[in-house]
Order: sequence, then structure tokens, then C-alpha cells
Amino acid sequence: MTCIDTVVVDGKSLAQDIRSEIAAEVAGLVAGGHRAPCLAVVLVGDDPASASYIKGKRRASGRAGMESVERTLPGNASQADVLATVRELNEDDAIDGILVQLPLPDAVDPNAIALAIDPAKDVDGLHPVNSGLLMANRPGLYACTPMGILEVLDRHGVKLEGKRAVVVGRSAIVGKPVSLLLLHRNATVTVCHSRTQDLAGVCREADVLVAATGRARMVGADWVKPGAAVIDVGVSVIDGKLVGDVDLEAVEGIASLVTPPRGGIGPMTITMLLRNTVAAYRARKGV
Ligand code: GUN
Repeated sequence: MTCIDTVVVDGKSLAQDIRSEIAAEVAGLVAGGHRAPCLAVVLVGDDPASASYIKGKRRASGRAGMESVERTLPGNASQADVLATVRELNEDDAIDGILVQLPLPDAVDPNAIALAIDPAKDVDGLHPVNSGLLMANRPGLYACTPMGILEVLDRHGVKLEGKRAVVVGRSAIVGKPVSLLLLHRNATVTVCHSRTQDLAGVCREADVLVAATGRARMVGADWVKPGAAVIDVGVSVIDGKLVGDVDLEAVEGIASLVTPPRGGIGPMTITMLLRNTVAAYRARKGV
């Protein structure tokens, strides 16, 4: 039986290190006579999970010395209402980054919202200009979770060049962009989804496995090649407990590295949001 000493990634501590670097950068800008970067978050409706995510993003911005503002719209807001809010934030020179929290109510098309955000302020990386720049491997604002995943892999010395990477999930916010980032690092990338045949067999070939489906504990012991790095992006709540796409206990002893459902990729996503906001600010202000 394989028994590998699995590293359970401490995303919280890694995120803290990077946030300290960002805070120092922001302090330097302010000391140089510039205003602090400012993130705008838009919440539509009163979903408690979304409200809590927004709170976490604003708190992290504040701790890094950045400003943030929040626009809250009721759950029955129309698409025109949300678009009007986005346009107002686009035009406000004091705002550097705009994030419209997902999911949105059924009446609001997330693609229409992504398209309305000024690409220079699109810190979620969801505007087609930014997703196109990622596709072309040119600098732009890229989606935060995929960048957080690459940061975790890099900071743990996981080699990507020539390796087999398997991504389960093809969302615009995680699956597709992380596949491109891995491809640009010369991994051989397979993207799986709900219609993939022999999903476990494909995953078992992965040196790097990224699970981003929201199917609780889908990835078990027989899905993981011994020594693989396993990144869990899934978030489900089962009996009041946060559960990922990966059965953490089952893959310990098989994977070389695994991210836990709490304190894994989540804190890294927020950290990359801060980094994107500073990058958007610098690009807009030329500093
Ligand atoms: N909802 C869950 N994750 C995200 C994210 O990264 N960005 C936005 N806008 N909404 C989300």
C-alpha cells in the first residue's frame, strides 16, 4: 500500500505572507503621496454566503491598507439596475476594481454584467477582453481562484512543465482559466466535465489534479495517482460542515499535496483579488 507523507496546504498562512507583501506595497504607494487603491463590491440580494464572502473581501482590503466600497441592491433588482450600478462605478475615477458577487438572481444575466465592467477595473477577470488576454497568454487581469491555485503550486515547488494536469469542471471563473494557466506553464492539460467518460480513470493519470465541481467528496482514493498534487476548489455544505470536492481523509497518504476545504484555496482567492486591485490601480494611474 502506498503511504506518502501528504502535505496539507496551509492556504491561510500562505495568503497571509502574500497579503503582507501587498500591504507593504500599498503603504509604499501611500507614502509616495498616492491615494490607496479602492475596490468596489456589488451584492445583489441577501444570500448569507455571498454577504459573508463580500465581508471577507472588504476586511482583507482594509487590512492591506486599501479602501473599499459596497453597493447593495435588493434581490428583485433588474438587470438594468445592476448595469446602472456597474456603469456608475466604471465612471468613478476613485474606484480601481469592480467585483459583482456571484451567483446573481435569475433575472440578471452574469455575462451581460461581465461585459459591462470596464476591463481595466475587472478584478474578477471575467470580461471577454481579460479572458481573451489570458487565452493569448498576454498580461491582463486574470480570474483570482486560478491565480491562487498557481501560486499554491509554485510556492510548494510543484513542477508543471511536461506534467499531466487534469481539471474537473469547465466554469468561466475556475475550470477554463486554470486550464489555460496550466497550459501556458507547459503542462499537458485535460479538462473534464459532467459528460466525461471514466472520470476516475482520467483523474488517476494526473500529476496535478484540480477539482472544481461542487460535488462533495467526489475525488476519492482511487481517483488519485500516488504522489499527485490535488487542488480542491469545491465548496459544499453538508450537515452544516464545509466539504470540498475531495475526500481529504481518503487521499491523505496517496497525494503528495492536498488543499483542505477550509483554509485552502479560499484565502488565496481573496489574496489574488487584492493583488489584481493593486495591479488595476497601477495600470490605470501609471504608477
Ligand atoms: N462567487 C464565488 N466566487 C466568486 C468570485 O471569485 N468572484 C465573484 N464575483 N463571485 C464569486
